[in-house]
Amino acid sequence: MGFILAATGSAIGLGNLWKFPFITWENDGGAFVLVYLVCIAAVGLPIMMAELLVGRKSQKSAVGALKEVVGPLWGSLGLWGVLCGFVLLSYYTVIAGWSLYYFAKSSSWLINGFPTGTNMGDLFGAQSGNGALQLGLSLAFSIATVSVVYFGVQKGIERIAKLFLPVLFGILVLLLISALGMSGSGEALRFIFRPNFAELDRASVLEALGHSFFTLSLGMGAMITYGSYISKNQSIVKASAIIVVLDTLIALIATVIMFSVIFSVPGMDQQVSGTGTVGMLFISLPELFFTEVPFGQVLGPLFYVLVALAALTSTMSLLEVVASYVIDNHGIARNKATLMCGGVIFLFTILAAVSFGAVPAITDLQLGGALGDMFFGGKVGWFGMADHFVSNWMLPTGGLGITIAAGWVVSREITKSELVDGTQPGWFSYGAWRFFIRYVAPVAVGAILIAVIFFGRDFS
Ligand code: PHE
Repeated sequence: MGFILAATGSAIGLGNLWKFPFITWENDGGAFVLVYLVCIAAVGLPIMMAELLVGRKSQKSAVGALKEVVGPLWGSLGLWGVLCGFVLLSYYTVIAGWSLYYFAKSSSWLINGFPTGTNMGDLFGAQSGNGALQLGLSLAFSIATVSVVYFGVQKGIERIAKLFLPVLFGILVLLLISALGMSGSGEALRFIFRPNFAELDRASVLEALGHSFFTLSLGMGAMITYGSYISKNQSIVKASAIIVVLDTLIALIATVIMFSVIFSVPGMDQQVSGTGTVGMLFISLPELFFTEVPFGQVLGPLFYVLVALAALTSTMSLLEVVASYVIDNHGIARNKATLMCGGVIFLFTILAAVSFGAVPAITDLQLGGALGDMFFGGKVGWFGMADHFVSNWMLPTGGLGITIAAGWVVSREITKSELVDGTQPGWFSYGAWRFFIRYVAPVAVGAILIAVIFFGRDFS
């Protein structure tokens, strides 16, 4: 139980609540969502099982596990994952910090009343562009992450996760019911679920693939590390299915909620777009909490605490990947390693924190030309560039490595004995898994990467 909670906590995070809705918006919905769902089922689910089995087999963290189960040279794939975790954690912390700000803000609205008519887009822009505030918020969140890993209070966090996951789910369902009653909900559902393939380009396909890794915490060793916690009498297949289904459900619900608000409240789309859409979670929801939902004034602050906790169970797993590498491979004590890694990562968090207007040179940073377009999606600013590169390139290449390792290098006996151990559910077919991990997943990831490298972003 502890393991499922920890792994689900790692998967469910800002990827579901903050990122998926706005990239769905940027990629014009429907077709993008469909490609994402296909990637989750055909690539994400088999790789989830692969990472967990490598972890449980070796009882080690990413680098050591790959070396032991796959082969000595495969340690470098683990190192790639460590680097990925390092960069991902550095910018993820900034968004987590925003949830702290909105917790404080919505608490003050609860006490002093909601200033109706406030332009939430402007409010968001003002907070994200305030350098000192951003540094403070992300420092606070980094300290929280480091403390959890430092004091080894994973157990405590798991206990919290047990409580907060159902509450988060409950609030989301309540918000969903309110949102579906709004005038724009039909348009929102059409936008999200009616595919229009004319709007889809190669870059969107890569983004959907990349996000399926991001949201499931795959491609960088986090699930290998967590796999080492699964007990022998627990089914890896069942656990993977639970994590994948819950994660996808939460992302879709969050998206329906946010788009219903955007399509219902006049001017909301301009407020969201005015900040380049990254603020969607923090711009559209306050409106819902404070004007639509019964008891919303109380649920608002509670919701933002839950967002922060959901982020914390993800940042915990990211820091764990980096710190456990330093602990296991450089023989440094846990306390020291955690502080050291947390400190060095925070230096990069600073760059991400001042990417939203506080420091112009970093906000406007851009790599032009074909390479900039390919690797950074034409994104401007340190934050956007780092996120694009990690999600679209680092995670998929890491994931590709894992499919090749699990499908072609690790023996059939080993993978079979881990997945088919008498605890697996009736619907599971080992032959199908092996087919997906050997052919479908690597070919899909490889083809998408090659298509973007050689043929650019559009299909036309
Ligand atoms: N899955 C997390 C989210 O959706 C992010 C994450 C990625 C966490 C990779 C750990 C490893 O927010």
